[in-house]
Amino acid sequence: MSTELAFNGGSAVRTTPWPGRGLIGPEEKAAVDAYLDAVIDGPGFISYGGVEEEAYCQEFCEQMGGGYADGVNSGTTALYVALRALDLPAFSEVIVSAVTDPGGMMPIPLLNLIPMVADCAPGLYNSGPQQVEDLITPRTSAIVVAHIGGEPADMPGIMAVARRHGLPVVEDCAQAHGAKLGGQVVGTFGEVAAFSTMWGKHHSTGGQGGLVYTRNEELYWRARRAADRGKPFNLEAAAGNRIATLNFNLTELAAVVGRAQLRKLPGIVARRREVVARLREATADLASVAWPDALDGVEPSWWWLRGRVRVERITCDKATFCAALAAEGLPISPDYRAALPHHMEWFVQRRVFGDSGYPWASPEYQGDRDRQFLCPNAEETMDTTFNLHLHEGWEEQEVADAAQILRKVEGAYGV
Ligand SMILES: Cc1ncc(COP(=O)(O)O)c(C=O)c1O
Repeated sequence: MSTELAFNGGSAVRTTPWPGRGLIGPEEKAAVDAYLDAVIDGPGFISYGGVEEEAYCQEFCEQMGGGYADGVNSGTTALYVALRALDLPAFSEVIVSAVTDPGGMMPIPLLNLIPMVADCAPGLYNSGPQQVEDLITPRTSAIVVAHIGGEPADMPGIMAVARRHGLPVVEDCAQAHGAKLGGQVVGTFGEVAAFSTMWGKHHSTGGQGGLVYTRNEELYWRARRAADRGKPFNLEAAAGNRIATLNFNLTELAAVVGRAQLRKLPGIVARRREVVARLREATADLASVAWPDALDGVEPSWWWLRGRVRVERITCDKATFCAALAAEGLPISPDYRAALPHHMEWFVQRRVFGDSGYPWASPEYQGDRDRQFLCPNAEETMDTTFNLHLHEGWEEQEVADAAQILRKVEGAYGV
């Protein structure tokens, strides 16, 4: 094997493409074919809010250990619906994890609520109880906690803070289907949870989709209304639609795909855990990269694997180290700054409702309109961490190649 790094002209360790996920297969095709046959023989149209969505939601709840779910058309709209169902006072403050997708934050100001951005816990992507508690004011009305990269946030700690202050918690489980903490699956700690089922997630309803989940039946009905133009679900129908909202429905066709996918989800989560366990073993002797601590009672549902470059153990900077890994063929994102929505123009320029500056500019908002969220822990995590895009399609060869790449680059830069 050449020790010359690929980005210095050596040959790369991995030149063949990495395997795809193979997420959609004959099972989904058979389910969709059967559904479409029934459509053609029957009503002749694809609907929404029917038996397929009901079954999909029920099967999802079985995997959650009970509760209620509503299928919606994205993770972003799932969060919007979850917050709307909580009926929070306009211009109150909602604490939200700093590291998240823009869709994990934008619903907050769109509901005339003020996002308060909680830093990460030291060394992590996830926010912790301390970072959440630091932002609580008399104006706080809710907390949104994201489980980033499939690693569960410290929910017992965050729930203790929330209870102390009487605040509802929304779990953003977009990246963590099936992750567990102390045997309890994420999404069941807070009052309500939002899931994304777009194509890249652990299980998918096709191109786009999402789920709102709660163990509270009343909240479930409020979510149903919030997801479908305020229709009077579980209410006396005569008065008509109860609240103004949008139409966020999942289609029956998407639910058919989701049902087939749910049957695969436990296997996907388990296989990803195995791949990570194998990679940990295969790289146990390396000093330049640290994987997340394997903590008792924490069962991540890896969306990717967080790798911390131990800059004190290498002779180059993190950017060079990651560029070397990528040049050897390792599928990584060298940093995750794209997941700091509060650094983006929409947030910085307050582009939510035209040029009005609302919701921050409202005279009803009594907090600091120009508050900066510096998030030093998030910056430090970004400065030291890369995301390794492994998945259930990885076999022994992929683990071996990844380990060999890490070993080769450490050989060149390790101290
Ligand atoms: C943490 C988080 N929240 C929300 C979303 C938004 O989900 P969607 O893309 O389905 O709208 C994502 C998407 O990746 C996410 O990662």
